[in-house]
Amino acid sequence: MNIYTMLPILLLMLSTALADNCSYIYDGMQYTRTSILTIKGLPTNLVFNPNNKDLHFTLIDLESLQNDDVQTKMDQYILRNGEPIKIDDVNGQAAAVDVKNDRVYIGTDDGLTLLNKTDKANFVSLKDEDIVQVFKPNHGDDLYVVVFPNNEVFKINLKKNEKRRVQYVPCAFIIAVDADDNIFYECDSKYVKVLLKGFHEPIEFVGIAKNAARAIAIEDNHRVVLAANDGLYHLKSDNLIPKKLMNLDFVPAGIAFDDDDFFVSTNGIVYKYSNDECEE
Ligand SMILES: *[C@@H]1O[C@H](CO)[C@@H](O)[C@H](O)[C@H]1NC(C)=O
Ligand SMILES: *[C@@H]1O[C@H](CO)[C@@H](O)[C@H](O)[C@H]1NC(C)=O
Repeated sequence: MNIYTMLPILLLMLSTALADNCSYIYDGMQYTRTSILTIKGLPTNLVFNPNNKDLHFTLIDLESLQNDDVQTKMDQYILRNGEPIKIDDVNGQAAAVDVKNDRVYIGTDDGLTLLNKTDKANFVSLKDEDIVQVFKPNHGDDLYVVVFPNNEVFKINLKKNEKRRVQYVPCAFIIAVDADDNIFYECDSKYVKVLLKGFHEPIEFVGIAKNAARAIAIEDNHRVVLAANDGLYHLKSDNLIPKKLMNLDFVPAGIAFDDDDFFVSTNGIVYKYSNDECEE
């Protein structure tokens, strides 16, 4: 065969490879999916640090989760250059990145800590509080923390070191706050709601099954994205009906965005979705 007869075959092979690899559709765009980490346990609470490309996550030991007699075992990790690094000496339960001030907060079962340059967690505040979630919006100086056992939400002003209960959000298992200070959350494994800034009554999103919400993250372009059992949804503060962005064939546990790329975790694995190599 000479090059001229081979060319159409090569092109066909290439387009099949492309179609095959770019077969994941997110918001109408083609994406590839690669597994960037396999690990024993459930990686959850994914948080990406755009300053150094670290991906933070909480690893839940599923055997201890299923055993009612023991406390659920979890550890805080950083995925850096493809390697998981465990944060020692604290029981880390969630991370939040303060992008503007280049700081990483780790919520632990004994207060709030800050990571230093050698990835060690150093106590900063909320001694004796069992912090199960943390969220830092990219704007402002407020850090949101969720405290066990009632999963009440508190707003910590990092400059003034003031702590205030967030009224009108009864509890939260997952939480994200958008650029307009609207609070998106799910409480008690029920429905996903949003408390609009300045309002007292949270609004419930429709169309998402009860018990289906797994994680919420914010895209770089400020869209709020929910990872639910059957896929990814765009949650808008002015529309009760979420827009489905992607179907998933696994149950997600965490989601985080890195510009146009994003990460979704599930039992034993962290996937990266990218559209870099996909021609439209
Ligand atoms: C598609 O995936 C295969 C196998 O993973 C890889 O060898 C090939 O380079 C990929 N092609 C493109 C166009 O990304
Ligand atoms: C980081 O924190 C640990 C634990 O407190 C401390 O021993 C270490 O000296 C700190 N490293 C830096 C670079 O500050």
